[in-house]
Amino acid sequence: MADLLSTLSLRETEIPNRIAVSPMCQYSCKSDGLATDWHQVHLGSRAVGGAGIVMTEATAVEPRGRITPYDLGIWSDEHAAALEPITEFIRDQGSVPGIQLAHAGHKASKTRPWEGNVPKQPDEGGWEVLSPSPSAYPPFDGDRPALCKADADDIQGVIDAYRAASERSLEAGFEIAEVHAAHGYLLHEFLSPVTNRRTDNYGGSFENRTRLLREVVTAVRDVWPAEKPLFVRISGTDWLEVRESWNIEQSMRLADDLARLGVDLIDVSSGGLHPEQEAPGGPNFQVPLAERVRRGTDVAVGAVGGITEPQQADALVRNGRADIVLVGREFLRDPYFGLRAVGDLERDPDDIAEQWPVQYRRAVNK
Ligand SMILES: Cc1cc2nc3c(=O)[nH]c(=O)nc-3n(C[C@H](O)[C@H](O)[C@H](O)COP(=O)(O)O)c2cc1C
Repeated sequence: MADLLSTLSLRETEIPNRIAVSPMCQYSCKSDGLATDWHQVHLGSRAVGGAGIVMTEATAVEPRGRITPYDLGIWSDEHAAALEPITEFIRDQGSVPGIQLAHAGHKASKTRPWEGNVPKQPDEGGWEVLSPSPSAYPPFDGDRPALCKADADDIQGVIDAYRAASERSLEAGFEIAEVHAAHGYLLHEFLSPVTNRRTDNYGGSFENRTRLLREVVTAVRDVWPAEKPLFVRISGTDWLEVRESWNIEQSMRLADDLARLGVDLIDVSSGGLHPEQEAPGGPNFQVPLAERVRRGTDVAVGAVGGITEPQQADALVRNGRADIVLVGREFLRDPYFGLRAVGDLERDPDDIAEQWPVQYRRAVNK
């Protein structure tokens, strides 16, 4: 039976345990999308801390796909070169480096959270943002940025940007690519009828609304090597049950479609699209969504949200509710969450010591 500390093989990638660092924006580039020492230390310490997968924050495939000017990007060779020492360090710790490839859509062009998430207009150092529809729907937070409806060239540009970003991610040494299609960003905006009011091939029916994501995934899979895993993060629901919106039934149907296109794992998050969402919180708050996708399809699933304790995470894997567990804020509180899990879940002191970095073993070998 699989448990939190058991290995997981996806294609030819062996992941040493089922614990993943959930992607978390750091807004710590110096205005150009290039990784800095912050990213090296932040991601590197979670690899030292025993995570099986260390996933980068949302990494923009093109400059206008950044949430803020300080987001990580991967739209040039220079960006890949800046990430390479980070992936090398993560691998050296026995962990698997993953990159979340993102486009922020109409939630782009803002100040950083600690500056208020204020939308920045083009004449204030911001930029025109991309959206499936220019129609009136409330911005998730703050005022509306300058919107631009995606035309055919924009759509092709997004697909091409994802393809090029995947090639560069490979050069940078990543082992897992994750397409970000959740949280109200561009690809989710196309999926949801709340934000997608198009009447062309990219709007209306389920097939049309999912077309852009399927085309992006096809382009990524085309260049992402057959031996390496591909993940997609989705919002399992918009949490807007009272209106026509994206929901778990559509997510399950999408998961099957994505699996057929070569996606290996669906990372099931939720919400982030609309300010009137009625989302629950608390421990395991999104796990029922992950579980529905896992039980209703043949694709592997990641659970995320409110997972803070090793025993809790272990139970999710043991009970077949998820194949991997992504941990966000708890990894900010405790970069060594993975080592903590080993200490809590392993009985034999030798097994514990073996999973700690050699440099730290005196802390466990009394
Ligand atoms: C500081 C911070 C930044 C985040 N940035 C991202 C991101 O870049 N991409 C993403 O998909 N989710 C992002 N999230 C959401 C987390 O990945 C995670 O899904 C969420 O925090 C719920 O998990 P948790 O309860 O373990 O924190 C972020 C969350 C936090 C706290």
